[in-house]
Amino acid sequence: MTASYTIPVTAEHEYPVIIGRGLLGELPHLCAGAQRVAIIHSAVLTTSAEAIRDDLHDGGFECFLIEVPASEDAKTAPVASFAWETLGTCGFTRSDVIVGLGGGATTDLAGFVAATWLRGVKVIQIPTTVLAMVDAAVGGKTGINSDAGKNLIGSFHSPHGVLCDMNALDSLPPHDLLSGFAEVIKVGFTHDASILTDIEDRGEACIDPGGDLLADLVRRAVQVKADVVAVDFKETGEGGGVGRAALNYGHTFGHAIERVESYRWRHGAAISVGMVYVAELARLGGKLTESDVQRHRDLLEQLGLPTTYAGDRWDQLLSAMQVDKKARGSVLRFVILNGLQNPVFWEGPDPALLHAAYGAVTA
Ligand SMILES: NC(=O)c1ccc[n+]([C@@H]2O[C@H](COP(=O)([O-])OP(=O)(O)OC[C@H]3O[C@@H](n4cnc5c(N)ncnc54)[C@H](O)[C@@H]3O)[C@@H](O)[C@H]2O)c1
Repeated sequence: MTASYTIPVTAEHEYPVIIGRGLLGELPHLCAGAQRVAIIHSAVLTTSAEAIRDDLHDGGFECFLIEVPASEDAKTAPVASFAWETLGTCGFTRSDVIVGLGGGATTDLAGFVAATWLRGVKVIQIPTTVLAMVDAAVGGKTGINSDAGKNLIGSFHSPHGVLCDMNALDSLPPHDLLSGFAEVIKVGFTHDASILTDIEDRGEACIDPGGDLLADLVRRAVQVKADVVAVDFKETGEGGGVGRAALNYGHTFGHAIERVESYRWRHGAAISVGMVYVAELARLGGKLTESDVQRHRDLLEQLGLPTTYAGDRWDQLLSAMQVDKKARGSVLRFVILNGLQNPVFWEGPDPALLHAAYGAVTA
């Protein structure tokens, strides 16, 4: 895929997700109607943020930068408050625009700040990791963390546009690129079998940031997300079936690992183990075959993603998984596969099966 490709998302309102290279020329059109643009970014992207600021300035916008900490350190109430205060100081109005430039943590924060400032201003997301391109920046879920848990404070607030500029991935450390790729594999298991066969056939070419295949896989993963959120924007199960919750495949156990590891594990690495866990659970429940589970392991390990976890943390993991349960106010619920590409819910599995699946993923 060399030319740019636009996927329209029709959830809450219609917006484009544009995937390609050298896309920053699209930004002034998307900002049309605003007088001020605030770019929320982390230090590692300062050079890009400054280039965007200068470009927008030349286009007649008043533009300012809001630098925030890297990764999960950005998704806190004090950082959101710092951003709100800066918007206030700069006289940011309802017709102005926030740009989120960075990985999923930055785009989650930028979306949340945009959702809450003046009860909602436009946000344009410029994701710079694979994870943010295929997942965090698309679909309108925004949020921050608190001591009570990850992503428990937030809002649905769809972006005004999303620019996935593949050139941004050139500077991304390989382990961050790989971590995000776990979400591409996830979509292969839940929705699009051709993603899995392409990875099996092409191996490491899939994660070459300079190659066309990665851009094409990003496009297909974004298409799945666009289709899913168009039907079930708020994850209420609208449209029947599992709906948007399918995208949480591997996340119940994965979030528990992140919490137990105090968010030092990359999200995608935790989700990688989480997918193997829930595949083992489905096998124990008679929904997946042994070879389906082995395919999970083979695909993830082929690219160097983790598939096992420490064997002495069950109690901590189980109590961390209760946070997901608390968020929904019902029993512990997993998205499992009843056959590949067929996500279903499994509510309240037998605790003995939960523990047995853990035994199958311990190192
Ligand atoms: N809103 C949603 O629907 C949704 C979905 C999935 C994940 N998420 C959230 O996304 C977050 C994870 O996102 P992530 O994996 O992108 O991690 P991240 O945002 O923490 O970024 C990873 C690291 O890469 C750096 N970085 C980002 N872009 C770079 C670039 N181009 N070059 C060099 N360094 C760069 C960041 O500064 C950071 O240190 C989590 O907080 C997760 O909860 C949200």
